[in-house]
Amino acid sequence: MTTKPVRNTEAITQSRTVEQLVVGHATSDGAGVKLTRVLTQSLQHRLDPFLMLDAFGSDAPDDYIAGFPDHPHRGFETVTYMIAGRMRHRDNTGHEGLLESGGMQWMTAGRGVIHSEIPQQREGRMEGFQLWLNLSGKDKMCAPWYRDFAAADLPGFITDSGVGVTVIAGESHGITGAVTRQVTEPLYLDLSLPAGTRFTQRLAADHNAFVYVYRGEITIAGQSVPSQRMAILNNGSDGVLIEAHDEARALLIAGRPLGEPIAQYGPFVMNTEQEIYQALKDYREGRLSG
Ligand code: CO
Repeated sequence: MTTKPVRNTEAITQSRTVEQLVVGHATSDGAGVKLTRVLTQSLQHRLDPFLMLDAFGSDAPDDYIAGFPDHPHRGFETVTYMIAGRMRHRDNTGHEGLLESGGMQWMTAGRGVIHSEIPQQREGRMEGFQLWLNLSGKDKMCAPWYRDFAAADLPGFITDSGVGVTVIAGESHGITGAVTRQVTEPLYLDLSLPAGTRFTQRLAADHNAFVYVYRGEITIAGQSVPSQRMAILNNGSDGVLIEAHDEARALLIAGRPLGEPIAQYGPFVMNTEQEIYQALKDYREGRLSG
């Protein structure tokens, strides 16, 4: 058991409010993994620089066992955060990693990665999230980059009121997260809120932000946000106040918008159609990565 530092509440002037509540839609991806797409393509401009958030969670092996066999990516970053389960990641340049309960993998696809993500369990619960974070045009063709973090290696703290915070990216209450990024300045927090607690987080007024509740129910500036809902927060205020009457868990995600055109074709996200054609051509001709 690690002892986490205790932090005081972060002061904010006024909490952001809930602009919209979004219900994810059930879909499947890879070789038939059942998941809920929470952040869909229609929200990419509103939630710039974020492109996608998938939530997966099932006790039934048939829902996840086939995993995600070899597939390409170009032009953005993926952040995979496991709540429960084990998943092995392998790419065509020899990088390999095992993601286990509470762990996180950050992958910058840059100019190209071809990889597989395959469950390493035949039964039990598989639960987690994959977030896609865009890269600016000047960074889309950068060299691929990976890092795997075990649960114990992810920075975290407990607030004086008892809220547990895992800082996957960005900075919260003076604690720097596992990954920081200069251009998009992503903040990615996993909050464990005991009953009757509140949590505040400062946010730059122009950063787009949302909260996804995955256990229990929370309240943001007086509005209730039930489980399996994403609350898009209005911009303009300097932070957010989250309250939990009963025990809850939620992701708080924010970032600086890029304000660039988004051209997406499946796992390729570029600025222009021409760059998408180039990505397809490079992939077909075996020049996407390596
Ligand atoms: Co992938």
